[in-house]
Amino acid sequence: MLKKEEIQNLIFNAKDAMKNAYSPYSKFKVGCALLTKNGKIYKGCNVENISFGGTICAERTAFLKAISEGEREFIAAAVVGSDGDFTYPCGLCRQFMAEFGLDIHVIVNNEKEIKLNLLKDLLPNAFTAASLK
Ligand code: THU
Repeated sequence: MLKKEEIQNLIFNAKDAMKNAYSPYSKFKVGCALLTKNGKIYKGCNVENISFGGTICAERTAFLKAISEGEREFIAAAVVGSDGDFTYPCGLCRQFMAEFGLDIHVIVNNEKEIKLNLLKDLLPNAFTAASLK
C-alpha cells in the first residue's frame, strides 16, 4: 500500500521533472516521477520534436531512464501536466507501462484532489505477453 507521503513525494518530483519539459510546439508541459520497487525515483518530462511523431511523453522518458539503468519492477508513476488538471497517460504510454506490470499505480492530481488508479483499470483487456499463446 502506498503511503500518503510517498504519493505526495512522487507528485512533488513529477512537478520538478515538468520544469525540464521541452514542448515548444504544444506548449504543454508534462512531468512524471516513477517509483521502483527498491524505492528509487526516476523522473521524466515530455520531449517534443518538429516531426511531431518523434515526440516522447514524460512517462516513457521516465520509464526509459529507469529501464536503461537496469530497473524492471515498478510500484507507481505520478503524472502532472502544466494546466494543473488531471493528466492521464496517453494510450501509447499505457501500453508501454503495461509491459512492466498492470499493477503499477498511476497517480494524477488537480489542485484539489489526488486520484490513485491501477494501470489495469486504465487499460482494460490489455494485450500483454500472456496474450501471445
Ligand atoms: N504528453 C505526455 O508527455 N504524456 C501524456 O501522457 C500525454 C501527452 C505530452 C506529449 C506532447 O509533448 C504534449 O503532451 C501534448 O500532447
